[in-house]
Amino acid sequence: MIGLLDRLARPLLHALDPEDAHGLAIKMLKFAPLPPAPRDDKRLALRVFGLNVPNPVGIAAGFDKNAEVPDALLRLGFGFVEVGTVTPEPQPGNPRPRLFRLDADHGVINRLGFNSQGSDAALKRLAARGSAGGVVGINVGANKESADRVADYVQLIERFAAVASYVTVNISSPNTPGLRNLQQASVLDDLLGRVVDARERVAPNAGPTPVLLKIAPDLSLGDLDDVVGVARSRRVDGMIVGNTTVARPPSLLEKVIAKEAGGLSGRPLFPLANRMLAETYVRVEGVFPLIGAGGIDSGATALAKIRAGASLIQVYSGLVFRGLGLIAEIKNALLEALEDDGQDTLEEFIGADAAAVTAEPWPK
Ligand SMILES: Cc1cc2nc3c(=O)[nH]c(=O)nc-3n(C[C@H](O)[C@H](O)[C@H](O)COP(=O)(O)O)c2cc1C
Repeated sequence: MIGLLDRLARPLLHALDPEDAHGLAIKMLKFAPLPPAPRDDKRLALRVFGLNVPNPVGIAAGFDKNAEVPDALLRLGFGFVEVGTVTPEPQPGNPRPRLFRLDADHGVINRLGFNSQGSDAALKRLAARGSAGGVVGINVGANKESADRVADYVQLIERFAAVASYVTVNISSPNTPGLRNLQQASVLDDLLGRVVDARERVAPNAGPTPVLLKIAPDLSLGDLDDVVGVARSRRVDGMIVGNTTVARPPSLLEKVIAKEAGGLSGRPLFPLANRMLAETYVRVEGVFPLIGAGGIDSGATALAKIRAGASLIQVYSGLVFRGLGLIAEIKNALLEALEDDGQDTLEEFIGADAAAVTAEPWPK
């Protein structure tokens, strides 16, 4: 069923404007009668952030921004789903066109700018799932015109803690002017202090809700020292490394599209994202787990992410070029790696190459 859906949809989706294609994909998932995903091999299961995750392959934020199809995504075989980014109030985002495919590079540039139906709409949908199960986290962000961005995050944690498996504080989108300044140590310290307080305040009713911090791959290593220091001292539960990059590697083939403003994702992001993941892993010293995102488009790149320090991984752009078959391909490759290594959990792989990756020349 999934294979059929995928084969039918991909040529059509690629012929469309990228944003129309995305809207159609969401509609198809809303209405396709997907069977429940078959049970995952238990060797792929992990316990991360206090959550039981059946396999480490998640879908990254930005695909299901308004929490319309989390259960369909779980049925496709993802081990966890991150919906959002959701902002407190609805906002339209930037004018179209704002999403571009770099076909020859297997990359994507987006400057969507947090187009969001707002927190009421997403909250209603997640609450309606009730006890549907599965790990569904929500990624939250501030409104562009907000007078108090920190208050936006606090409000979103308070509202979503009861209906989300975890909440990701997204301060790394390049498409909301000034947002990434929240990564500066003193500002971040205040933000995370207030966010973690909010989580504690609602915990008696909402239960424990892990709070994760999603960072940009464009931080300097000095800034990364500060960010990890603050994340550790404020006791966040984990980090996601990372978001899209504002860099444009010189190797890009689609020179014209590469000039579009926005964040680059997909295959050309992999070297930088993997390096930043490993740099984060060595600084975190095992205090909390990491989710690795950026450029995963094969079993080999997924395993490399885990070996660079990721307990869980997320894909997005790779699905555009490789289709839904990527999910099973990654899971099979991980099982094969376990067989080859005589392991029966992925734990041994996590971070095994982090030190080696940080010793390589800086990726161009
Ligand atoms: C079209 C598009 C929209 C995105 N929207 C968001 C978003 O709303 N919030 C967020 O944290 N990341 C967003 N991202 C970033 C992804 O979650 C992910 O971190 C990044 O794309 C790297 O993974 P990839 O190379 O597998 O795509 C978006 C990415 C793309 C391509």
